[in-house]
Amino acid sequence: MSDPLHAVAERFAQAFATVAGDIADPVVRPSDHADAQINGALGVAKKLGSNPRQVAKDVLVAAGDVSDMCSSLEIAGPGFINVTLSNEFLSIQLQSAMNDMHLGVHVAPTRLTAAVDYSAPNVAKEMHVGHLRSTVIGDCIVRLLEFVGHTVIRENHIGDWGTPFGMLIEHLIDMGQDTAAQELGVGDLDGFYRAARNAFDSDDAFKDRARARVVLLQSGDAETLHLWRTLVSESTRYFNHVYRLLDVLLTDADIMGESSYNDLLAPVVERLREAKLLEVSDGADVVFPAGFTNRDGHPLPLIIRKGDGGYNYATSDLACVIDRTERLDASLLIYVVGAPQAQHLSMVAAVAAQAGWLTPPAHMVHVAFGNVLGDDGKMLKSRAGDTVKLAALLEEAVERAAKAIAQKNPDMPEQERAQVAHMIGIGAVKYSDLSTDRVKDYVFDWERMLSFDGNTAPYLQYAHARMCSIFRRAGIERESVRSVSPIILEPREHALAIRMLQFDSAVWDALEKYSPHRLCTYLYELATDFTAFYEHCPVLKADTEEQRLSRLALCDSAARVLECGLNLLGIRAPEQM
Ligand code: ARG
Repeated sequence: MSDPLHAVAERFAQAFATVAGDIADPVVRPSDHADAQINGALGVAKKLGSNPRQVAKDVLVAAGDVSDMCSSLEIAGPGFINVTLSNEFLSIQLQSAMNDMHLGVHVAPTRLTAAVDYSAPNVAKEMHVGHLRSTVIGDCIVRLLEFVGHTVIRENHIGDWGTPFGMLIEHLIDMGQDTAAQELGVGDLDGFYRAARNAFDSDDAFKDRARARVVLLQSGDAETLHLWRTLVSESTRYFNHVYRLLDVLLTDADIMGESSYNDLLAPVVERLREAKLLEVSDGADVVFPAGFTNRDGHPLPLIIRKGDGGYNYATSDLACVIDRTERLDASLLIYVVGAPQAQHLSMVAAVAAQAGWLTPPAHMVHVAFGNVLGDDGKMLKSRAGDTVKLAALLEEAVERAAKAIAQKNPDMPEQERAQVAHMIGIGAVKYSDLSTDRVKDYVFDWERMLSFDGNTAPYLQYAHARMCSIFRRAGIERESVRSVSPIILEPREHALAIRMLQFDSAVWDALEKYSPHRLCTYLYELATDFTAFYEHCPVLKADTEEQRLSRLALCDSAARVLECGLNLLGIRAPEQM
């Protein structure tokens, strides 16, 4: 555990226990007056009816010699203990964190198998910005979980089954397979869907064919399955194009669409029946999970099997739970899905728990998120008023970034500029999504996300590139300063060292709350602390060679933490820009 505030907390917890036994509950916080403030004495004094400053004094006595960790301890105000960490302590801690593969981030005490359900676009439909959010947030959560040592199974639960496939297949036939494949291949998924829908709504013969086709699909007719596969593979080709642009980890191997659970649907019904949970309501098979009611206070059903015998979205989600807990042996089931599906997912969780498919410690977590808004404050739409094409949006981001770099660094060779533009443009889009609290809506704003100032990807990437450029100017390999133990003297060095050591708690904080924005905030503070250090503490023109090497070591450490943090967000950190 590398966060020095945690080290302080641990050390003083013992002293508090000596003074006040188990009624003590000291909390360590960052403070404006020192590195940390411990506030437990007030609580203890209140419970014992004693003087808080005296309690604080007793704690300091009980703590004994802490000079290996603290350079000054002060009792302030009504009994706070202000702690200043010793520079030697920070130097030792920093060196050991930097020698660690995980830069001081502790691994999970218990290793879990997690199934992360994310992205999940629908076949023959354009991915909307909600899918962008799910993809970007989910990918970050996957990286965080893996980083701390969990086993992660990525699950892309694409919508690849259901009644609309009748009309989609008939439209495919009418269009001719090759023409259709071409249209889907270039990503005009919505155009294809709309045309199929039009035919369905306006042509009764087409409607009859579509209905018959659904029956053929469900009965496993070979020719129909072949046509269905064409639709799926042309759509996933487009999804993959978006995933590659986005630099996310998803591949075809992660696809577990709704259709993958077809064989499990009948057993879901059987097992619910055996568990005596199934009831008939309005001709459908349903379960009434405890605690869910509608507006009138009546029990709310989760529909398992419709009156016509067809299965539901909920049924395949229940099959998913069974598959994930029983076959994959996952105990952490994460769903990165928009906030409107909260009730659906909690009903699925409730039914799965009642049926015995989700028993503690196994549990489901809904990582919900808000909407992406346009500058008019309404849902983000294209200029023509329909869904924004994600691929086009991402290509625009790269183009805009290329223009910004051409301005900032006109000498950069063409080929390198293209690569850096990709990293910055895509980084900007991802970061603007990750850096606001995910449950909130956010406004999609090109100017802001591509700005080199403020809490943005380009700012962080630029800070990183600047750290790297110091070594180019020094004519020194970064690796060569890795054995240097930093000499921490100046307040900005002190602050930067503490910040770097807090990478551990920043990563854990983001992971425990499934909130990537917490890691973003930390990285922004790190970059700000670095800038302050760099402005006040000359590196290449340091007073002594020893100091020069020490400061270079701090630059290298800061660059490593920043790069690692950006990487956990799924954002690349170019060395030059
Ligand atoms: N395909 C769904 C949609 O576009 C999202 C699926 C989320 N995952 C799940 N297991 N229900 O809304």
